[in-house]
Amino acid sequence: MILPIYVNGSEILKQTAKPVEGPSAELNKLIDDMFETMFAADGIGLAAPQIGKQMKLFVVSLEEYDNEDFPNDTPEFVRETFINPEIIESSEETCPFKEGCLSVPGINENVNRPKEITIRYLDRDFNEHETHFTGMWARVIQHEYDHLLGRIFTDSISTLRKQLISSKLKAMTHGKYSARYRTKIK
Ligand code: NI
Repeated sequence: MILPIYVNGSEILKQTAKPVEGPSAELNKLIDDMFETMFAADGIGLAAPQIGKQMKLFVVSLEEYDNEDFPNDTPEFVRETFINPEIIESSEETCPFKEGCLSVPGINENVNRPKEITIRYLDRDFNEHETHFTGMWARVIQHEYDHLLGRIFTDSISTLRKQLISSKLKAMTHGKYSARYRTKIK
């Protein structure tokens, strides 16, 4: 089932997510719905707060991702579900990348982030992993992880860029934006 995506201005996007308690049929269905919602919107990552759930959960798929300038160099992964994730190590070296977000339609801005991370998480079968990610995987994971902390990518851009897009961001909270997928503000 395709779910509406909450847009900037929604309270849930500013809240800290809560740990997922354990496996359940509902959780399984929710994860399926999140993948379906993400694919329908041509996204590569989606966090639970973006569909209105205050849960430490996000999904990522780089199946369709292809960018020679910023390669997917953790190729053994195609798609993954991250439950109760914790980033336990970040490289000192950072790099910029122009990000976007399904909850912030129409805005793309450069964000500096660590190039590599190690994250501990449970997959959708509740198997625990501690995995090192690089390239695009590291990028998307950090973006989605921020959603669980109540942050969106425009919180992490330069002060100057923030000023330049502030009116656009504010208009968005009043419903002035366009997206070609189902959205809501609450
Ligand atoms: Ni996002």
